[in-house]
This record gives sequence, structure tokens and C-alpha cells, in this order.
Amino acid sequence: MVALHKPQDAGLALHIEGLSHAFHLDGEPLPVLDNVSLDVAPGEFVALLGPSGCGKSTLLRLVAGLEPADRGTLEGDGQAITAPDPSRVVVFQDPTLYPWRRVWDNVAVGLEAQGVLKTQRGRVDAALAKVHLSEFARAWPRQLSGGMAQRVALARALVNEPRLLILDEPLGKLDSLTRIAMQKELIELWQRQGYTALLVTHDVEEALLLANRIIVFSERPARVKSEIVVDRAYPRRRDDPYLVNLRTQILQSLGL
Ligand SMILES: Nc1ncnc2c1ncn2[C@@H]1O[C@H](COP(=O)(O)OP(=O)(O)OP(=O)(O)O)[C@@H](O)[C@H]1O
Ligand SMILES: [Mg+2]
Repeated sequence: MVALHKPQDAGLALHIEGLSHAFHLDGEPLPVLDNVSLDVAPGEFVALLGPSGCGKSTLLRLVAGLEPADRGTLEGDGQAITAPDPSRVVVFQDPTLYPWRRVWDNVAVGLEAQGVLKTQRGRVDAALAKVHLSEFARAWPRQLSGGMAQRVALARALVNEPRLLILDEPLGKLDSLTRIAMQKELIELWQRQGYTALLVTHDVEEALLLANRIIVFSERPARVKSEIVVDRAYPRRRDDPYLVNLRTQILQSLGL
């Protein structure tokens, strides 16, 4: 049994079946996803691991609706995913904040695009509070540390009140101490908000600390190679023998 978190209705049910995708490189097809099937329950936290270049980010882009898949089924709550939607937002490895906008105005972007900012300014304040950056609302991006900038990127995603939070190595560039602090924050936010989370990471330990379930992909084209349920309550301890044992199992599955 996977331990899910309330409020469950805040999370999207994701259904991926027989998903295949190819790019073209010098006119030659480059298969990237090969018949990937994956179901994610509302409120579940799933981590994706796999070799560099195997197709993880591509899978996230398809789930976000940023581009259409060649073949297969991709559904959120039973509805085909065909375009981006504020209910499914991505946080990338680089925070990519607008340097000419203050922190507050960076976080406000999503609501501005939806044309609701005038009446819902409080949502921006709330999102900044969630990542503990209320004091820096008036700061410029260049005045932030790397970890703070990444928290702004997270607030910019959370302001949309996503039902699916898609994280593509969001902590990849942070130093290890900031990273540990952010992992804790990600878990707390997820537990409070109840969204479904899909995280790509290269850090096996991070996957074990955060996820209910870990999917290991093969070399490109990505196929689901193995699936590991992490049946442990939060907060988790890195030195938990259960997790240490799973880590060995996963590294083997990755061929390391
Ligand atoms: N827009 C594109 N056009 C052509 N090829 C692409 C495009 N995007 C990705 N690829 C190719 O698809 C493959 C998978 O890329 P993807 O970014 O999904 O890998 P990844 O698993 O996220 O890797 P990493 O762990 O290094 O981030 C790579 O071989 C890449 O060159
Ligand atoms: Mg990637």
C-alpha cells in the first residue's frame, strides 16, 4: 500500500498508457519513449530515475501538454492532455526568473496570464509565504541566492494551485545543504497542499526521501525498467536501513 496524503481531491489522477515518442535528428527518427505506461494516483508522489538522455524530461513535457505525443494515451482525471494548463505546472532545474521583475511580480506571472491578478493578489502573497520568502517580495532576482531563486520558481508554480506539480531536477544545481533544506520544504508543501507530484531527479537518495514510488527507466528510448514502492512515513531518515536497502536495489536496477 502506498501512503497517500490528504486532501486527496487536490491531486490529479494521471494515466499514461503505451506512450511512445520520437524526435528527428538529421532526418533520422530518434526514438525517445517506448511504450511507457504509468498510473499515478491523486496525491501520490512519484520519482523518475534513469540514465541521462533517456527521455525523462521529454516525458514530463508531454505530461505538461507542452507538446503532443506520437502515440499512446495521456490523461489527467480521465481527460486527454492536449495543451498546457495551470493545473499542471513544471518547475525546471533553472529558475529562469525575469531579471527585470521583482520577486513578487515574477510569482504573479501565472495569474496575470490568466487575467485574474487584479482581484487575486493575495494568492501571490500566499505563495511567497509558502516558500518562506515574504520578506523578499520586493527584491530583484539578482539579489537572491540560488536556493532562494529556486524557491521563487516554486512559488511561481504554486500560485496556480496546481493539481499536478511536475519537477524536473528542481534541486539539481543547489549545494547539498540547501538541497537538504529544500527537500524538507518540498515534502511539507506536498503534504499540506495534497497535489500529485512527478519528480525527475538523478539523486537516488532524494527519490527515496521524497517519493511514494520510484520508477526506473532504461537507456533511450525510455522504457519502464522497474518500479519500487517506498512504504515509509515522513519525514524520512537518510540512514533508515529500509531506505539504504532500497538504494542498493535501485542502483543495481540503474546498472551502477
Ligand atoms: N526538441 C528536441 N529535438 C530533438 N531531440 C530532442 C529534443 N528534446 C530532446 N531530444 C533528445 O531526446 C533524448 C531524450 O532527452 P531528454 O531531455 O528527455 O532526456 P533526459 O532523460 O531528461 O536526460 P537528462 O537526465 O540528461 O536531463 C535525447 O537524446 C535528446 O537529444
Ligand atoms: Mg532531463
